[in-house]
Amino acid sequence: MILNEAQLHDWHRDGFLVLPGFVPEGDCDRLRTRMTELVDAFDPSGVSTVFRTDDQGHARDDYFLTSGDKVRFFFEPDAFDERGILRQPKALSLNKVGHALHDVDPVFAAFSRQPALGELVMALDLIEPLLLQSMYIFKQPHIGGEVHCHQDSTFLYTEPESCIGLWFALEDATVANGCLWAAPGGHRSALRARFVREGGGTRMVTLDPTPLPVDGLVPLEAAKGTLVILHGRLPHRSGPNLSERSRHAYTLHLIDGRCRYPPDNWLRRAADMPLRGFH
Ligand code: FE2
Repeated sequence: MILNEAQLHDWHRDGFLVLPGFVPEGDCDRLRTRMTELVDAFDPSGVSTVFRTDDQGHARDDYFLTSGDKVRFFFEPDAFDERGILRQPKALSLNKVGHALHDVDPVFAAFSRQPALGELVMALDLIEPLLLQSMYIFKQPHIGGEVHCHQDSTFLYTEPESCIGLWFALEDATVANGCLWAAPGGHRSALRARFVREGGGTRMVTLDPTPLPVDGLVPLEAAKGTLVILHGRLPHRSGPNLSERSRHAYTLHLIDGRCRYPPDNWLRRAADMPLRGFH
């Protein structure tokens, strides 16, 4: 078994699992090197208008909403000045890259489809796992912002719910540089909201008005190579990076192919880019 009895017990009790040393250091470095290559090859002038000002909100939404089957680059707020010029080097201005690295890029695809990950999520009751979304998250030194408390099933919803998140620490993640925080057992509370498409944009639909917890979250500090598994209903957040060290992470979200994927989910893919499992 890839997970022992005690780990399965913790998973059901807490809604998360922290597996130190799951990823060899060389694999972490390979992903970081590959991302450096992708960022080097990316020309930000092509999207500067998308991110430059608030009145470009529609263009920004469109860039996001059509990213489900692509590799797209998302900047920190205020990365561009009013002339559309980056205030800092692009490698230090990015918030994340998403959302289909696992399908589009061969290095990330090979990492994401390693059989051990399939065995792992099948042990957590994803019977027909499908790789839905991937993100490379930079959490830049000093400017890497907080991610507010949320449940992943809000954004990646199926009926019944099946989302599982895999969060890989490509560098040491600590409280100082913005590690994850999670509410143990919070996956047994209700799903609070769904993020859906409506008209040309999106809307947050409340399902249960109970606020997400503010207190009681615990830090999930994670050394490089650690895998953190997150239940789709688990309330979690990450802090700002107030340190001079980056906190790169790669995330992969999976769903069960037996579940219904509603057409109003924000993440859509072209008909010739169907979701795939571990083959
Ligand atoms: Fe999340």
